[in-house]
Amino acid sequence: MSVMFPLQICGAQVRRRGKVLVGPVDITLQAEGLTMVIGPNGAGKTSLLKMLHGIMRLNAGTVKWACDQDEARRRQGFVFQTPVMLRRTVLENLIYPLALLNIPKPEARERARDWATKIGLGGAEGRQATVLSGGERQKLALARALIRGPDVLFLDEPCASLDGRAMREIEAILQAASAEGTRIIMSTHDMGQARRLASEVIFILHGVVHEFSPAETFFETPQTAQARAFLNGDIVE
Ligand SMILES: Nc1ncnc2c1ncn2[C@@H]1O[C@H](COP(=O)(O)OP(=O)(O)O)[C@@H](O)[C@H]1O
Ligand SMILES: [Mg+2]
Repeated sequence: MSVMFPLQICGAQVRRRGKVLVGPVDITLQAEGLTMVIGPNGAGKTSLLKMLHGIMRLNAGTVKWACDQDEARRRQGFVFQTPVMLRRTVLENLIYPLALLNIPKPEARERARDWATKIGLGGAEGRQATVLSGGERQKLALARALIRGPDVLFLDEPCASLDGRAMREIEAILQAASAEGTRIIMSTHDMGQARRLASEVIFILHGVVHEFSPAETFFETPQTAQARAFLNGDIVE
């Protein structure tokens, strides 16, 4: 189990140009589970994930991992909604994060090959990453993040605009990673995906966390009118 938890978020807030993007947030995340951040467009999902990952400066409060903050930084990864591919081959994209860790070349190649196969790109190792389809790119971005074996992985709507097959493949990779102990904290706008993957839900609206509950509780007996409306498919403002 990761030394990074519990993650204590106390009064954490991000403001930009006088506008509150997210917070103040007061929650504690434990070492186990898969946390799903849900809420309508513009609710603050991306801002919350970036704030927790430490790439959005806090204007108030604290985000405190249980270990040293530099170590926490090294042990976490982030997959962006539209990942940037290196102008290199699939295999080189996978080797790159390992090269940064000074992992010997032969071992890095072997691990990269394993991951290419795992994501169904075994036959495309030499292809330029920039010409991959949307689903292939997203799988490669995911593999590039997981290949380092992070304790925590943030993903921001990783399946937005992907077809059903790519979504299923990505969900399978996430489920396997989660089962092997990677702590996943992600957002989605897809309630089917949230139900399939989440063990707990953070429901956010206007930058404010309205609910933080076990997935079963959230989906069966949402506590707030806003969450009930959102789950009903109503327009929530
Ligand atoms: N860097 C930024 N500067 C100013 N406003 C921002 C910035 N990033 C996001 N916003 C605004 O903050 C709000 C929340 O955005 P975001 O976190 O992207 O929501 P979501 O991911 O739920 O769609 C939106 O109104 C968005 O326009
Ligand atoms: Mg977003």
